Amino acid sequence: MPPVTVAARARVSLPGPRVAARTAVDREAPLSHTPRPVILDCDPGHDDAMAILLAAGNPTIDLRAITTVAGNQTLAKTTRNAQRVCTVAGIDDVPIAAGCDRPLRGALLTAGDVHGESGLDGPAFGEPTVAVDDRHAVEVMHEVVQHADRPVTIVGVGPLTNVATYLDRYPADRGRLERIEIMGGSTGRGNTAPYAEFNVLVDPEAADVVLRSGVPTTWHGLQVTHQATATADVLRRIEGLGTPLAAICVELLTFFRDTYRALFGLDDPPVHDPVAIAHLIDPVVVGTARLPMRIELVGEHTRGATVVDTSGRTGWEPNAEVGLTLAHDRFWDLLIDAIDRLGAAG
Ligand code: BDR
Ligand code: CA
Repeated sequence: MPPVTVAARARVSLPGPRVAARTAVDREAPLSHTPRPVILDCDPGHDDAMAILLAAGNPTIDLRAITTVAGNQTLAKTTRNAQRVCTVAGIDDVPIAAGCDRPLRGALLTAGDVHGESGLDGPAFGEPTVAVDDRHAVEVMHEVVQHADRPVTIVGVGPLTNVATYLDRYPADRGRLERIEIMGGSTGRGNTAPYAEFNVLVDPEAADVVLRSGVPTTWHGLQVTHQATATADVLRRIEGLGTPLAAICVELLTFFRDTYRALFGLDDPPVHDPVAIAHLIDPVVVGTARLPMRIELVGEHTRGATVVDTSGRTGWEPNAEVGLTLAHDRFWDLLIDAIDRLGAAG
C-alpha cells in the first residue's frame, strides 16, 4: 500500500477555504487526475528543499519516496536536511532513505560555498521529528517501482549516483519507469567548472549511465534553470502567505540569493531543482526539444560537460529531451501554491 502523501491528502480532504485560495494555475488544472507516482532523489540543498515542497504540496504528484545522495554536502548532512524540510513542512508520510555517499568514481565534491556548512544554511531548524528509513535508497526505489500500479517517474536533482546504481542493480525495472527528469547539465557553460554543471560534474559516470539507460530522460540544465529566478517580487509573494513554512522558505531563498550574489554576481538566485518537478506537473512550464547529447567523461578540462548538439551538425541521433525555456510566472505560481497548501495544512 503506497503511503498517502500530503498531496493526496490535500486532494481528498481540502476544506472549502483552501480550495478557494487556489491560484489561477490550479483552476486551469483540475484536481481530478490520478496523481503521478514519483520518487525524488536529491541532495538538499536550498533548491532541493523547494523541489521537495513542490513535489509534496502539489496534488498531481504522488510522492512515494525521497531518496538522498551525497552532493551539495555529505550524505549525512543532505539526509538530515531532507528530514528538516519534511519536519517543517509536515511531510511525515513519505519515506526518506539515504543512498550513496560518494560518486561512482573519484572523490566527492561538495558545494558548501553555495549551500553553507550544513548544506541548508539560513534558518534555525529545530531537531527533525521525521525518521530516516533504514533501507538503502536504491532498495526503496526498487520496492516503490515494483509495487506501483503504474510506471513511476524518478526525478533526480542531485548527482545521479543513486539513480545509476539503481538502474544497474535492477535492470528489469527500467521497463517499469515512465521517465527520469533530471536537473543537470548545460547546453552552454557550466557553474562549477567552465563547461560543467555541478550535478553532472560530481558524478559524470552516473549521468552517462542514466543517459544511456534506455529510459526516456529530460535534462533541465542551467540554460533553463537560470530562468527560475527568485526575484524580490517572488520573495514578497511567499512572505505574504504568512505561514511559518513560508517564513522559512524566505530565509532559505534569501541565504541562497546572498551566496549567488557573492559567488556569481547574479541579483536573483536561480532556483534550479523544482524546475524538473514543475515540468511534470505542467509541461507548458518548460519548453523542451529532443536533441543529441553526450556526457564528457575524459576531457582534461571538460570532464562533466554535457555536450548537446543544438545545431544538428554532429549527425548524432537525438537521445534526450532538453529543457530550454521557462514560463517564469507560471513556475512560481506552482511553487507558491505548494508552499501555501503545505503551510496551511501544518
Ligand atoms: C545544482 O547544483 C546544486 O548545488 C543545486 O542543488 C542544483 O541541483 C545546480 O547546478
Ligand atoms: Ca540539488
